[in-house]
Amino acid sequence: MIGKQSIIFYHDIIDCIIAALEARDRNTADHSRRVSDMCEQVCRLMQLSQDETEKIHMAAHVHDIGKIGIADSVLMKPGPLSEDEWKLVMEHPEIGANILSRSRGLSEIAHIVLCHHERWDGVGYPNKIKQEDIPLGARIIAICDSIDAMMSERAYRRSLTSEQCQNEIVNNSGIIYDPAIVSVVTGNWESVVGYIHF
Ligand SMILES: [Fe+2]
Ligand SMILES: [Fe+2]
Repeated sequence: MIGKQSIIFYHDIIDCIIAALEARDRNTADHSRRVSDMCEQVCRLMQLSQDETEKIHMAAHVHDIGKIGIADSVLMKPGPLSEDEWKLVMEHPEIGANILSRSRGLSEIAHIVLCHHERWDGVGYPNKIKQEDIPLGARIIAICDSIDAMMSERAYRRSLTSEQCQNEIVNNSGIIYDPAIVSVVTGNWESVVGYIHF
């Protein structure tokens, strides 16, 4: 997707988009930074190429950018969401992919963002695709996204301990998550999760 010369240019565009998210929704921006740090570490452990790692790192930074299109009353609600409110939140992968796909050079990143809530067993959203049909970057983000959600304190619930979180990931290996990536993450738990400040 991104030629070597233009990678810095695209990285700059991503930085602008992140700044827009920071201005609108600090929590999602902080969450995205932690997820992208974890994803980068997973990419290194999987020995992915520098280009692939860079692409997944950028996609992780903007994976929830579609939340920019969701009303504050839903996005900032300090308690559990109603069914209708969930339906609105579940539009964020498509909103995000639409925003990013305005740039042809970001089309692969847009596709990763579109697929970050798909599940290994094919019952995720928005398109119910499964296994290797889900782009690798989206499969990596799905795990790191869940780790951050579980390890972060919310107004209406306590965070899980590191051990509880790890069990949750293992229990959903081959169900929600790609089992190959789960074994990389759980086999290197401290190096993926240990240094992140939730
Ligand atoms: Fe998301
Ligand atoms: Fe997320």
